[in-house]
Amino acid sequence: MTSELKRYTESNRAAWNEAMPKHQRAAKAKWDRAFERVGYVCMGEEEVTALRRMGIRGKSVAHLCCNNGVELLSLKNLGAGECVGLDISDLAIEEAQERAARSHIDCRYVRTDIYDIGAEYHGHFDVVYVSAGALGWLPDLPRFFAQAGAMLRDDGRIFIHEIHPISEMLPFDDPKTSEDDLLRIIEPYFQTEPYEEHDSLDYVGGTEYTSTAAQYWFVHTIADIIMGMVNNGFAIEHFAEYPTDISAGHRRIEAAEAGIPLSFILVGRKTM
Ligand SMILES: C[S@@+](CC[C@H](N)C(=O)[O-])C[C@H]1O[C@@H](n2cnc3c(N)ncnc32)[C@H](O)[C@@H]1O
Repeated sequence: MTSELKRYTESNRAAWNEAMPKHQRAAKAKWDRAFERVGYVCMGEEEVTALRRMGIRGKSVAHLCCNNGVELLSLKNLGAGECVGLDISDLAIEEAQERAARSHIDCRYVRTDIYDIGAEYHGHFDVVYVSAGALGWLPDLPRFFAQAGAMLRDDGRIFIHEIHPISEMLPFDDPKTSEDDLLRIIEPYFQTEPYEEHDSLDYVGGTEYTSTAAQYWFVHTIADIIMGMVNNGFAIEHFAEYPTDISAGHRRIEAAEAGIPLSFILVGRKTM
């Protein structure tokens, strides 16, 4: 891996390790309780419908950038077969492992940089799953799709449920933003350089802090994402856009019913 790529991903790792105790203070007990309920699923109806349409029952799944693992536990509860979650954050993986053990749900979690995943997982999975707020942390999207393709068996699927890049042009929820400014474009759609930020990553508990580690966030357009898949051997099987906020940062825009795409689901089939 290039040292430039590692500089970004290791800084993001440190930033996520800084954020996780704050997320855990706000939500760890809630998630622990939720998964005491047999068959609990944390995803919304749009996503569950798309997962069922693609087929999830019995499928072996790798969740890339799995954070605290709750979506993977849910996929297992939807009937998935072998489930492996992979994430760069030490503390996120520890939390995920602890909850899987506590709830007796058979999911395995591995701490790794996505770009370091090796041959042991090549050709191994039926589904690579990616969800809310993952792709933006990844400096090299084509390489990510090459990695996802390598991990899939022939005819495997990549399932992405992500924050819509259009929504990143608009302000995040902030009580100081007036109703008039809610739909004001404040960022470009075409942003080739990463954003380097030290703002609070605690979108779960809402604590304000300054991150010691720099967070590097990369805006990937819809074209970057679709062509990243196509150029790495995926055929697009399904694409849908939704006015549903899955970022926890655009609740007011969602409530305003302004007709803005806030999330999307994209499914690709490995063809080579
Ligand atoms: C916002 S979370 C997305 C997961 C989940 N949808 C959620 O909302 O919690 C982003 C995750 O990406 C992980 N991540 C960032 N860069 C990564 C990399 N290079 N390799 C593996 N995981 C990475 C972070 O550690 C973090 O847990």
